[in-house]
Amino acid sequence: MNRILVGSVDDIQEGHPVFVRSGVLEIAVFRLGDEFRAYRNRCPHQQGPVCNGTITGTQVATASSGWVPEWVREGRVLLCRWHAMEFDLETGERIRGRGERLRSFPVSVTDDQVFVDVASRSRLK
Ligand code: FES
Repeated sequence: MNRILVGSVDDIQEGHPVFVRSGVLEIAVFRLGDEFRAYRNRCPHQQGPVCNGTITGTQVATASSGWVPEWVREGRVLLCRWHAMEFDLETGERIRGRGERLRSFPVSVTDDQVFVDVASRSRLK
């Protein structure tokens, strides 16, 4: 196991990812409420720096809204600046995609310190 200290829990605020490095890997750690997610800063589309993108929401139109577009999931969507692909920050999956997903890493918290395990790859739940 290769754990990298990211910082204290209070150092990582929603909407402001913290970046760490391990060799050639650049990883961004995002806070989602009381949980954390870590993703490689490389877009599965054309390798852009996806984690430097915009944290936002997305627009959906469903039968329950009468097919009227609604803005949902504010703060839970990562928008890649290169070609505007959207990724779910909770799962790393591309929204409206075909199975593309961000490479994720396990995050743990010990004594209010946040760590990323860069030796293993997480697929999340
Ligand atoms: S590189 Fe991210 S959307 Fe194309």
